[in-house]
Amino acid sequence: MYEILEKREIAAKNVLYKIHAPHIARKVQPGQFVVVRAFENGERIPLTPVMWDPEEGWIILVVFIRGKTTLRMNVELKEGDKILNIAGPLGNPAPMKKFGKILAIGMMTGIVEVYPIAKAWQEIGNEVITLHIAPEPMVLLKEELENAVSKHVVVSFPLREGMGMPEISKELVTRGQAKVRELIEKEKPDLVFMVGPAGGQKAIFEVVKEYGMPMEVDLHPIMVDGTGMCGACRVTVGGEVKFACVDGPSFDAYEVNWDELIARSGFYTDLERKALEDYLA
Ligand code: FES
Repeated sequence: MYEILEKREIAAKNVLYKIHAPHIARKVQPGQFVVVRAFENGERIPLTPVMWDPEEGWIILVVFIRGKTTLRMNVELKEGDKILNIAGPLGNPAPMKKFGKILAIGMMTGIVEVYPIAKAWQEIGNEVITLHIAPEPMVLLKEELENAVSKHVVVSFPLREGMGMPEISKELVTRGQAKVRELIEKEKPDLVFMVGPAGGQKAIFEVVKEYGMPMEVDLHPIMVDGTGMCGACRVTVGGEVKFACVDGPSFDAYEVNWDELIARSGFYTDLERKALEDYLA
């Protein structure tokens, strides 16, 4: 059982959990993730440790409230409560080498995963520029990134009355593409890296591709076990079937079958909506 040492909302719909998990804190490396099962018979959700302390034995997860399980965690779990199970660390660590100048992009909560990787890249001698693309109320880790990398840029916009996901996605893509184009032309990075929703990753990749720059993406298809057994996280990369949990999560953006990934990501949208409605009823 994993005790919640601290819990607080750090941006709209984004809740920070500091959790006692010594065996994970000792082993985890930037780029890896954990699979959390908060409740008996509950859904398993993949989450990225954002910060950790191997001596004190804690990890920090930031949970974006987007469906029944993440809402239930926020409603039913408080400081001092225990999380049923956390498996990990899982996945491959991000490659820790000198690339030169790196543009590391996080769209929405993707910035949570970018943070530890960007910080580690900067620490080993890369010049890292981070870009966070999100609506204003969901901007997070701004100060932490400003302290960790060479330059941190935020592209945000206010949420207007009645704005739904289609309108938000459109703003994210339009503003994100324009800023990425500007940064590529000004900064001329050696590598672009991105974490975010698959549709947003594809849209940003379209811009990067025009400049022929190398781009790595951390993929987040639907995951269940996180150990290569269930096949839920299947993606096609370079014409071959890969499992994001054991072969990734990082892949060459030029090799990813984006249309398949985006289609598979929406498989359970109706079921997820129904589960949330039932929980709220
Ligand atoms: Fe089951 Fe990757 S999550 S195979």
